[in-house]
Amino acid sequence: MDSKLLKIGVPSKGRLSELASDLLAQAGVKYRRQNRGLTAKVDGLPIEIVFLRTDDIPTMCAVGAIAMGITGSDLVRESELMYPDHEKVKVLKKLGVGKCRLAICVPEESDLESAEQLDGSSIATSFTEITKDYLAQHNAKAKVIALAGSVEIMIGLKQADAIVDLVETGSTLAANRLRIMSVIDTYETVLIQGPNVPDPQTAERVYRRLEGVLIARDYSLLEYNIPKAQREAAEAITPGMNSPTVNTLEDEDWLSIRAMVRRKEVITVMEQLEGLGASAILETAITNCRMGN
Ligand code: PRP
Repeated sequence: MDSKLLKIGVPSKGRLSELASDLLAQAGVKYRRQNRGLTAKVDGLPIEIVFLRTDDIPTMCAVGAIAMGITGSDLVRESELMYPDHEKVKVLKKLGVGKCRLAICVPEESDLESAEQLDGSSIATSFTEITKDYLAQHNAKAKVIALAGSVEIMIGLKQADAIVDLVETGSTLAANRLRIMSVIDTYETVLIQGPNVPDPQTAERVYRRLEGVLIARDYSLLEYNIPKAQREAAEAITPGMNSPTVNTLEDEDWLSIRAMVRRKEVITVMEQLEGLGASAILETAITNCRMGN
């Protein structure tokens, strides 16, 4: 390994692996992983990608083995609780993907309704620290059984009364006839930074690139023509990120306006603009951007 390179930890497998490499590729952080290789060089940037287990990334970052990483905020919290003496890692950016709930789940027919009732029970989980912390907050003493995965099997095997696990779509719970008793917290994929950043400039470049991609994923560019008299009302509907771009047209009674609009709001915004008399309303997808400071 080259000590001068900025080391970024990315999940080597699992649900976050593809999300992370897609995001980095879109941000121009491109690399090729050799068969089962543990590291990869990035084309044209002083960066080395380190392929790690997702749950090791926060700890590796905290001890300075890597400078940055992409992981789940659930795992950041778990690592923080597990190693209170480690330096804290900074969550630089929520990456808008991998959103899930960490929940206490029980069999569909269970009578358990509240955290306090877990006193004296057995709980299987891979999130032992978050679970213990939650139980302590609710004055419940339970036996926490640490497993690396597939924790729901412990209910089927009658070895646990409850599990603490991630719930995304809920299909794993349904397949195992379990239900959520209570949600401990919600988590998502994040970009983190540890205390050992040998090349802050490159780290900033990575951050800015990812930020550009995330804005581009969230926003579209909307262009339309509007009668001059409706300018104020139109700008109120499409204020843009800072302010919309307004251009004159050959017909002096009309203006052309261009603004960024949240993708999920585009259809409604188009209808509102149409209601104001706008014409030639065009949505353009943005694949990347820099918004300045
Ligand atoms: C996670 C989690 C649940 C499942 C929840 O497992 O542990 O089992 O996903 O997702 P769902 O609500 O969409 O069904 P993962 O696939 O990451 O593997 P694991 O069992 O090894 O943790």
